[in-house]
Amino acid sequence: MMRQAGRYLPDYMKLKEKYSFFERCQTPELAAEITIQPVEQIGVDAAIIFSDILVVPQAMGMEVQMIEFKGPWLPDPIRHASDLKKLMVPDVQERLGYVFDALRLTKKMLDGQVPLIGFAGAPWTLLCYMVQGRGSKTFDEAKAFCYTQPETAHRLLQLVTDTTIAYLKGQAAAGADVVQLFDSWGGLLGPDDFEHLSLRYIRQIVAALKDSVPVIVFAKGAWQSLEAMAATSAQGLGIDWCIRPEMARQLAGPRVVLQGNFDPAKLLSPIPVIEREVRAMLDAFGGGPYIANLGHGILPEVPVDHARAFVATVKNHSYEPAR
Ligand code: CP3
Repeated sequence: MMRQAGRYLPDYMKLKEKYSFFERCQTPELAAEITIQPVEQIGVDAAIIFSDILVVPQAMGMEVQMIEFKGPWLPDPIRHASDLKKLMVPDVQERLGYVFDALRLTKKMLDGQVPLIGFAGAPWTLLCYMVQGRGSKTFDEAKAFCYTQPETAHRLLQLVTDTTIAYLKGQAAAGADVVQLFDSWGGLLGPDDFEHLSLRYIRQIVAALKDSVPVIVFAKGAWQSLEAMAATSAQGLGIDWCIRPEMARQLAGPRVVLQGNFDPAKLLSPIPVIEREVRAMLDAFGGGPYIANLGHGILPEVPVDHARAFVATVKNHSYEPAR
C-alpha cells in the first residue's frame, strides 16, 4: 500500500507524539521501526522505507517544514532564475546518508522476510512543491513558473533529476530491491506538457537506473500517457482507480508490471464490501504481471482491520482464467 507506514497505525501515532516528522525520517532506528510496523501488523508482502519525497529539496538546500494538519511548507520557494543559486546537486552520501543507513538497518531487521521498496518524488512533482511552497489542488504558481520561465523551469527539473539519479542509485546500493518514482501531480498536466515537463526527466532516471534496480513509475492521473510511460522500459507502472485495469493493460502492453488500483476511500467500506471489491479488482487485472495495491495513499481514518482485510483478500485470492 502507498503511505503504508503512515497515520492509520496506532503505533505510528505513538512515535509521532514523541518525535517530529523529520526526526522520524532522519533517525535510522525510528525509520526502520516504522517501516517494519505494517509488515508485522498488516501482513503486506513488501516494506516501503519510511521517509518523504521532500527530503530531496531539503538536501538540495531548501528549508522544508511539515506542519500538522497543513502538510509541507517551504518558506523560501523558487520563483526566479536567481533562486536557483540557492540550490545544489548535493553529495547524497553526505546529505541523504541517513536514508541509506535506514535502508541498511531495515534490510537487516527484515532478514529476507519481504523485499524493501525505496522511493523518490518525480522531478515534476518536486518542482510543484519547490515553487508553490506548499500543497495545492492546482499548483497554479508552479505551472505559471513553467509557462513564463520555461528555461529556468527546465534547469530546475534537471538539477532535481541529477540529484534523484544519485539518490536512487544510493538507495539501490543500500539494499532497496525496487524503487518507486512518485509523480503525484503528473495528472495536472496535459499529455504534451506531461511529456515535456515530466516524462522527459522520468525517462532519464529510468535509463540511469537500468543496471542498478527495477523501477516502478506512478504518475497519478496521467493514464493518458501510459503507453509512453511503458516505452521508458520501467519495469512497473502504477495506476489509480480512474482507469479500468483492462484498458491500462491495453495501453501499457503485455510486458510491464501493472500496480494498483484500489480507491483508498473504499477501505472505509464495510469489510465484506472491501473483500468483494478487491476480488473484482484482482479479476479485472487478470493473469498479467501485477502488484496488488491501492491507487494512491492510504487515508489516516482507515481502520486497521480494514487494511488487514485488503491484504488478506489479496493473499487468499487465486486468479482463474476464463474458459
Ligand atoms: O508509503 C510509505 O509508507 C512511506 C512513507 C511516505 C511518506 N510520504 C510519509 C509521510 C511516502 C512514500 C511519502 C511520499 C510522499 N510525500 C508523496 C508521494 C505520494 C503521494 O501520496 O502522492 C508526497 C506528495 C509527499 C509530500 C507530503 N508529505 C505531503 C503532501 C504530506 C502531508 C499530507 C499528508 O498526507 O499527511 C506529507 C507528510 C507525510 N509523509 C506523512 C507521512 C506518514 C504524514 C505526516 C506525519 O505523519 O507527520
